[in-house]
Amino acid sequence: MPDSVQFEEFISQVKTVGKASQAPLERFSRFLPDDCFVAGNVNYTPFVESLSQWEGDSLLARAEAALKELENVQTRFLGKKKGEVTLLGRRRGALAERRDVAHQEFERLKTSIDSPLHKAQLNLTSFVRELLTSQEALDVTIPGRRPRRGHLHPITMLREKIEDIFVALGYAIEDGREIETDFYNFEALNIPHNHPARSPQDTFYTRGGQALRSQTSTVQIHAMQRRGAPLRIIAPGRVFRRDTPDPTHNPMFFQVEGLCVDRGISMAHLKGTVAEFLRRMFGPDTKTRFRPSYFPFTEPSAEFDFSCFKCGGTGCRICKGSGWIELGGSGIVHPNVLRAAGVDPEIYSGFAFGLGIDRMCSLMYGLDDIRLLFENDVRFLKQFD
Ligand code: FA5
Repeated sequence: MPDSVQFEEFISQVKTVGKASQAPLERFSRFLPDDCFVAGNVNYTPFVESLSQWEGDSLLARAEAALKELENVQTRFLGKKKGEVTLLGRRRGALAERRDVAHQEFERLKTSIDSPLHKAQLNLTSFVRELLTSQEALDVTIPGRRPRRGHLHPITMLREKIEDIFVALGYAIEDGREIETDFYNFEALNIPHNHPARSPQDTFYTRGGQALRSQTSTVQIHAMQRRGAPLRIIAPGRVFRRDTPDPTHNPMFFQVEGLCVDRGISMAHLKGTVAEFLRRMFGPDTKTRFRPSYFPFTEPSAEFDFSCFKCGGTGCRICKGSGWIELGGSGIVHPNVLRAAGVDPEIYSGFAFGLGIDRMCSLMYGLDDIRLLFENDVRFLKQFD
């Protein structure tokens, strides 16, 4: 790699050129007429002075300027028409005798100037070329700048964890639709015509009268129709409610539905499955409790809570001092629902449960506002990498 030490060497070589030509100049001047002014040496001062102007510049700029200056020096002394030494040579014609010797001395003088200048020019040219090459060269060993890698959204990470647990328990993953007909959203789920959930105050409707599903329970019907009984599925997905956004509500959020239909399924299977899921999710000491509740599509119905993963049940900020965290609804699938989906309730029974992923996520990560999950603020999201 060309460096400034090398460059300074070239420059000092050029500075010595003037001295080398001093003796030949003196010898030649003897053949000149008396009136001919001879400076005594070939003067390189302008060249040396101009070098000092470029001191602060980059090495390449200085080397290029020095090269240019060498060309100027060459022209000034040896230029074909007006070069100082060329003009001196013309004067020698006045001497009739000893022409040959005069000619020889003049050629020596020219060579004494031209040869070191030419050498310096060659050296500087290849110095500049090397410098340019080294600057343009691509160092493939320099570590690259890594593009910032994205990562999964915390809700997706949680959903995948839930899926893994249920797949290990023998459940299939069922995909659902986000826009549903009245039949799947309400009718088949045994939701009466006068139920408030049907009102446009609670549910989003399309202009064509279809509903954005307000719970993943709609997938129960599609799954039973498509797969028949027995079946075991979970259905994660997005749901929509006309809830006003606040720290615990979003109008769009995620749920996971679970459905198990087989002969002789009871509340015991429901409790065992939910308890096992929560132990695998939050650790082997996690306790589960069921509280009676009401859902039109299950009978009996229960809401389920689990012992707080933070304090283990003694009470803390996360569980608001109760020791328990509410997670979702569940129950034994109503016979009307089985029937609407083409499953004979005399032969089969089933349990179902549903939980909200967003609230679970905000509890697990201690978020004080569920809306942060959908603001897409990278500063917030990158904490979950
Ligand atoms: C249901 O949606 C029932 N489908 C659950 C169910 C399934 C019961 C199967 C029986 C059998 P619920 O309306 O309580 O239940 O909603 C379930 C969970 O969704 C809640 O526990 C809560 O975690 C979450 N959730 C409800 N509304 C919102 C909201 N606006 N924003 C975020 N999460 C919500």
